[in-house]
Amino acid sequence: MNFKQVIAENISKITELDKEEIEGFIEIPKDDGNGDFAFPCFRLAKTLKKAPNIIAEELKNAIETNDIMEKIEALNGYLNFYITKSEIVKTAVEKFDAKKETYGSSDIGNGKTVLVEYSSPNIAKPFHIGHLKTTIIGHSLYNIYKFLGFDTIGLNHLGDYGTQFAKLIEAYKRWGDEYNIEENPIEKMSQMYIRINALCEEDESVLEECRETFKKLEDGDEYCTKIWNKFKELSLVEFKKIYDLLGVDFDSYNGEAFYSDKMDEVIRLLEKSGKLTESQGAKVVDLADKGIKAPCIIQKANGSSIYATRDLAAILYRTKTYDFDKCLYVVAEEQNLHFKQIFEVAKYLGIDEKYTNGLEHISYGMIRLPEGKMSSRKGNFIKVEDLLEESISKVKDIMKDRDIENKDEVAKQVGIGAVIFEDLAESRIKNQVFDLNEALNFNGETGPYVQYMTVRTKSVLEKAGYIPSIYDINFKSLTDDSSIRLVKIIDNFEKIIIDAMHKNEPSIIARYVIDLAESYSTFYNENKILTDVKEEQDARIYLTYMAKITLTNGLHLLGIEVPDKM
Ligand code: ARG
Repeated sequence: MNFKQVIAENISKITELDKEEIEGFIEIPKDDGNGDFAFPCFRLAKTLKKAPNIIAEELKNAIETNDIMEKIEALNGYLNFYITKSEIVKTAVEKFDAKKETYGSSDIGNGKTVLVEYSSPNIAKPFHIGHLKTTIIGHSLYNIYKFLGFDTIGLNHLGDYGTQFAKLIEAYKRWGDEYNIEENPIEKMSQMYIRINALCEEDESVLEECRETFKKLEDGDEYCTKIWNKFKELSLVEFKKIYDLLGVDFDSYNGEAFYSDKMDEVIRLLEKSGKLTESQGAKVVDLADKGIKAPCIIQKANGSSIYATRDLAAILYRTKTYDFDKCLYVVAEEQNLHFKQIFEVAKYLGIDEKYTNGLEHISYGMIRLPEGKMSSRKGNFIKVEDLLEESISKVKDIMKDRDIENKDEVAKQVGIGAVIFEDLAESRIKNQVFDLNEALNFNGETGPYVQYMTVRTKSVLEKAGYIPSIYDINFKSLTDDSSIRLVKIIDNFEKIIIDAMHKNEPSIIARYVIDLAESYSTFYNENKILTDVKEEQDARIYLTYMAKITLTNGLHLLGIEVPDKM
């Protein structure tokens, strides 16, 4: 039963106001003491020309209570509705039972395509914890959209283009033999990059050689392309180690270089729009009338393209290739201006508004380790892979005396889960100090805690040995405080996912699974699940089953696996 609808129908009958609008006003009170649903009467004060508390009083007297609506109360201009508890349980259980393992999923996205661009590290450079954050947020968004029925495509816009690769090629030519780059590619390439940069600063002629090499690379010179490919392949091997640990995969790895031969069209279209102007020899699009002071540079005075040009080429390519409804860019807030600029310039490419409206920068705050910010230029970076391995090994240590068969696998699931959860626990725009020890606190609001409670639901079900049919359940057995609270949270799952999707905010799901896990823990402590009363036992087992699926699906949306045992 849809309680909101029933309430709205009642109010609408009396006031003769639109049912749907009324339904939209109905709230779920934070405090259980104010009923299960509340109607804020001030919403009607203007239309009915009466004070909210009078409206509340009148409606209360006019609406009849019944088997389902136990009690109605007028309080402070609100109308509070108390639904018969067993009805709430029945509704929630039936809704769950219709979906079971896929509970929470929906088809609201059917027929729509969403591109999620995330991770996008730079080849030959370290994959830093900022890249870890986009990878984790992006992967979660990918899962969320997919679960809601969208056709979802994951894109990795690799940073594989630019003068730095020419510099690296020059470095490789000079000292390739000294550095065994196959052995430890990113570190070696970073070292080479630092060294060639220093040399360029000392010696102008080296910088000039690098510029020429870049030109050669752009023109498809065989040797340069070969070395560049080698850098790219070696980098990808390293990145894929991280992706494998995280369980992340992409539908496309088309990086910036992929768009290098697709930029002429951007320039042509912008010229056609009349928006491309000359400024000190460069071609730019002025955006002052859009409230953006800095013009967007499209082509530098020396004729070379820039980062923004490749992004515009990517937008064009994606409209043609994917016919998308949304294209999300999960990129750090440092690039806010860049995305503002290219989204405005994209409007001059002559593409359908549907596409430009669908472009969205999913910004996230700065992340650093407690030791201080790392810099790849100075070379004092910590490898993300090492951080993940450290987390896994710490979990192994914590669990060393536990009787678990596949300890390595479990340590990986928990160690990685901890890092992922920590990255998603707060709203993405907040700055964060990433503290591994906090992430691994099994009793805190962490990934391992939620995993642990999920494992508990599994072991309860294992012990029970069966999942009852909902026709054997007496819904009244789940009306005590801790059970009904758990039921209500589970009932809210789909709404939470849709909210997370609208806000592109996985933290909403992270906070939800914490609530859910805590609520299961209370339920578990306050109720004996295996009892002598069969219908009570059935009800509690079934609620445990509901909690297990909801926790598992919630964790999956975050990108976190559930171990068999912990
Ligand atoms: N490679 C860039 C970086 O590491 C991020 C790329 C973001 N995506 C984009 N379409 N510009 O900072």
